[in-house]
Amino acid sequence: MSSKDQLLAYLKEEKGKWVSGESLSRKMSVTRSAVWKHILRLKKEGYVIESSRRRGYLFRQASDQLFAGEIREGLKTLVFGKRDIVYFQETDSTNLRAKHIAENGAPEGTVVIAESQTGGRGRRGRPWFSPAGEGIYVSVILRPSISPDEAPRLTLLAAVAAAETLLHQTQLRPRIKWPNDIMVDGKKLGGILTQVSTEMDAVDYIVVGLGLNVNTPRRNFPADLRERATSIRAEMNRPFARIDLLRRYLERFEDLYGMFNRSGFQPVLDRWKELSDIIGRGIRVDLPNRCYTGKVLDVDHDGVLILRGEDGILRRIVSGDVTLLDDQKMKKEPPS
Ligand code: BTN
Repeated sequence: MSSKDQLLAYLKEEKGKWVSGESLSRKMSVTRSAVWKHILRLKKEGYVIESSRRRGYLFRQASDQLFAGEIREGLKTLVFGKRDIVYFQETDSTNLRAKHIAENGAPEGTVVIAESQTGGRGRRGRPWFSPAGEGIYVSVILRPSISPDEAPRLTLLAAVAAAETLLHQTQLRPRIKWPNDIMVDGKKLGGILTQVSTEMDAVDYIVVGLGLNVNTPRRNFPADLRERATSIRAEMNRPFARIDLLRRYLERFEDLYGMFNRSGFQPVLDRWKELSDIIGRGIRVDLPNRCYTGKVLDVDHDGVLILRGEDGILRRIVSGDVTLLDDQKMKKEPPS
C-alpha cells in the first residue's frame, strides 16, 4: 500500500473525528510536510478533507471518482473486481484495454474502468459518448466454458444485470430493447458491447463492456444524441452516485453469470423477456444493407429475434437495430 493510501485508510478509520498531523506522521513514519502533501493530492482527487492548523485533519467524504480502492469497499462479489480492477483516468476504450490485458492472461473477473474514453465504441463501431466523470464505462473479462455461438447470451445477461441494477437503485423503470439497449421512456440510457476471442472452436475470453449515462445533464449531450439519449440525472433531476451503481451492477452480473454457469441460459432469458417490451410488438429492424418490418414472435434460446415480416415470412434476426413501431404504423397482419 502506498503511503498516500495508508493515510487515506487512517483518515477513513477516524471518519468524523479530527486527527492531528503529528499523530499521522508518527503512525506513518513520515514528516508532517509529507502528510500535508498527501492530503493535497487526496483533495485534488476529490476527497473532502478539512484541515485546521490547530486540530489537524477531518475526513468528510470519499471521492466520487471510481478508484479501485473505493469500488472494492463494500463490493459484495466473490470474483468480479476481487482480483484486479484496472483504473484509468482516461483511456481510448475500456473494451480495448480489457482485450489487451486478457491477451496477456488476465483472469476471469478482471474489471477495467475509466473516468473518460477518447475512443469509446458502441455496436457497429459507432462512437460511445464518454465524458469525464459523468458515466460508467466498465468492461469485465470472462472466461466461460462455452462455444463461440453461445457468446451473445452474455450480452443479454449483462443487459439484465444493468436493468435490474437500475430498477433496484433508482426510481426509473428501465426496459431492454433487443438485444442490449437499456431504455427509459424511449430514450437510451446505456448499452452493452460484447467482444469475443476464440481459440479453435472454444471461447478464449469475452469482454463485456457497459456504458451507462449517469450524471450527464441533458444539455451536455451532443445535438444528434439529445433526442435519443438520456441519463439518470436528466430523468431524476438530480445527480446520482456512480460508485454504488457500479458495485451493484458487478454484484448482479456475477450472480447472473453464476446462475448461467450452473443452470444454463433459460432463467436469464426468462428474466430478459420480463424486462423487455419487444415480444408481440411491431418493429422495424435495420440490418447493414436491408430492413424488415414485422411483428416479434419471440427471442429464442440463442438470443436471436424471431420476426414475422409483413410479407408473412418468418425470419431469424441475429443482429440489427430495432425501432419499435406504434401499432397503427403496422399494416394489418397477414393470416397465419
Ligand atoms: C451500444 O449500445 O452500442 C454499446 C455501447 C457500449 C459502450 C461501452 S463503454 C465501456 C466499453 N468500452 C467501449 O469502448 N465500449 C463499451
